[in-house]
Amino acid sequence: MIEPARFLSDLHTLRGFGAAGVGKGVVRPAYSQADIAARQWLAAQFRDAGLRVQMDAMGNLFGLREGPSLLLGSHSDSQPEGGWLDGALGVVAALEVARACNAGGGPPVSVVSFQDEEGRFGVTTGSAVWSGQLSLEEADALTDHAGVALGDARAAMAQMVTGDIDPSRFTGFIEMHIEQGPTLDASGEQIGVVTDIVGIRDMKITFDGQQNHAGTTPMALRRDAFQAVSSFNTLLNDRLRNVVTPQSVWTIGHVSLHPNASSIVPGRAVFSMQWRDADAARLARMEEIIRETAAEVASERGMQLGYGPLLGLEPVQMDARLQAALCRAAEEVAPGRWRRMPSGALHDATNLSRLMPVAMLFVPSIGGISHAFEEDTDEKDLAAGLDVLFRAVNSLK
Ligand code: GLV
Ligand code: MN
Ligand code: MN
Repeated sequence: MIEPARFLSDLHTLRGFGAAGVGKGVVRPAYSQADIAARQWLAAQFRDAGLRVQMDAMGNLFGLREGPSLLLGSHSDSQPEGGWLDGALGVVAALEVARACNAGGGPPVSVVSFQDEEGRFGVTTGSAVWSGQLSLEEADALTDHAGVALGDARAAMAQMVTGDIDPSRFTGFIEMHIEQGPTLDASGEQIGVVTDIVGIRDMKITFDGQQNHAGTTPMALRRDAFQAVSSFNTLLNDRLRNVVTPQSVWTIGHVSLHPNASSIVPGRAVFSMQWRDADAARLARMEEIIRETAAEVASERGMQLGYGPLLGLEPVQMDARLQAALCRAAEEVAPGRWRRMPSGALHDATNLSRLMPVAMLFVPSIGGISHAFEEDTDEKDLAAGLDVLFRAVNSLK
């Protein structure tokens, strides 16, 4: 049987790797010392649960049952400032269900913690490589905001790598996760069964103007890269309004100004441009508007315009049979207090849907907060989610 107390204790132990900030905050980006230490600890737990530990070249960590098995898990890397549950919950819940099933004659269960789901280098990079959508060579060339290449960063984990893991050994994938939005918390519900996951596009944009003296350069003669970003953002918000729905989102989350000094007109701005929507055609239309607007601003303000690689994932549907198993289990555990819902956050399940049937379940996020130190969930809801996952897996025998 599952042991909720052991599961919660494991979650708190995992939070200890990279614990930071207020509340239950975590700083555990992919390939950091905290991430490596967390994966070493997870590997030991997988081994103790009777699973065979394997890690591929990207750092995706598996605990394998022999023969065909259901794969459960998520990721254990964090955002630069993250919470204790994003990803970690799905990995630790998977570990507890694997222990219970493998010890108690349940269906064979394997466990995974994917690497760089949080996109230090790309978009769900570890599962993108494992599922064959991105080659290791392409991944190695991706750089983080500090200019570090993934190929160099992953060398820090090389001593743990054992080799490739063949996806065909798995019969399906179920990922438990926090909702990371306000819906379940606001409605007082305990479980969300995911119907589909939105698509995403993400790229870096560069404006190159002219670095100059902030006291002597007349405003009319400036080629100020920050002013270009500011103007681009205002125009874009206005123009996107004609094509988006209330569910469409776009974010400029990282801006780097050069040389970033009070008395220098900035000559260069590099910023992240990310947009998400459930409709691939709308994602494409948003891209056209983004590129047209950037070109217009560059031409009006004397900027050279550059783009990094366009990264992305398509919107995907969850598997009907696995969803039905989660719905039945949700009704048993939380009668009348669960719903079907889409996911606005990205997940490794998107990449895995190329390889096998996938499904996801959510538990509430208090105040709808995530990707922040304040991220949290009531422990009763964490335990309810674990119970739903366990029941659903057993019903798939
Ligand atoms: C994944 O964490 C995302 O950005 O949705
Ligand atoms: Mn996550
Ligand atoms: Mn996340």
